[in-house]
Amino acid sequence: PLVSSKDVLQQARAEGYAVGAFNVFNMESVKAVIAAAERERSPVLIQVWSGLDSFVGLDVLAAIVRCEAEKASVPVVLHLDHGMNAEHAAKGIKNGFTSIMIDGSSLPLEENISVTKEVARIAHAVGIPVEGEIGHVGGEEGGDHQEADDMVETSVEEAVAFYERSGVDTLAVSIGTSHGKYKQEPKLNIGLLRDIAARIPIPLVLHGSSYTPDEMIREVIRYGIAKINVATEMNDAVIAQTTKDITQGLQAKYASDLTYGAYALMADKVGQKMRLFGSSGKA
Ligand code: 13P
Ligand code: ZN
Ligand code: NA
Repeated sequence: PLVSSKDVLQQARAEGYAVGAFNVFNMESVKAVIAAAERERSPVLIQVWSGLDSFVGLDVLAAIVRCEAEKASVPVVLHLDHGMNAEHAAKGIKNGFTSIMIDGSSLPLEENISVTKEVARIAHAVGIPVEGEIGHVGGEEGGDHQEADDMVETSVEEAVAFYERSGVDTLAVSIGTSHGKYKQEPKLNIGLLRDIAARIPIPLVLHGSSYTPDEMIREVIRYGIAKINVATEMNDAVIAQTTKDITQGLQAKYASDLTYGAYALMADKVGQKMRLFGSSGKA
């Protein structure tokens, strides 16, 4: 069924595992993520990047996810990824999202608090939990092509102030990951994460998780990370498998045959992440 992120993520933090939040961009990717969740008996967040609104439509993707989620035998959350302003949040609420991120992480602290607080007020009025971000996870978000060094590490004091004043339900922190591929192996600040987790009891969120080594992922889950966002690795897998199938002479009768292998691979990779995150068997 379609559920709110609140219970799913609070339980994860309390029990010391994380739930994957997988970015989707079409019907096939939605079906792949839900198929994996059912196979793994795992709760799952399906997230839609706000930037897709202008070419696929948040309304279209939300309708697909809601339809599939309602039929699913495991809890599925429909999450808005990187909502950038109150208009995105309002569009998310209107289209049945059950979890919303407002990303004010590029703004000065006070402005980040004020926009996040305003979105939380509106979303909470209709029972929808909100994720905020403090510090800034850099890298390439969607087609944004930012450089990875635009990262700003989270400060514990700012995180505590942000948590206390914004009213968020979950908090994304910047501890060394970055969106997309890494130029060199990431160094995560686990000590910082520990300090944040010691003072902030809500589920913490890791962005930019693609290509972060498995042992680092296991470690952050021990210190409060309860939602793990994965986008680029799945995107790259779909492209690589589609390219391989076509160059190896895949005979397609229907256009849809061209992508079956790629989305089957995506489902397998999502399942692997669920086992790594410890969410398998929790639904
Ligand atoms: P990656 O593309 O590095 O997996 O980051 C995903 C993300 O943070 C989406 O919000
Ligand atoms: Zn992100
Ligand atoms: Na990454």
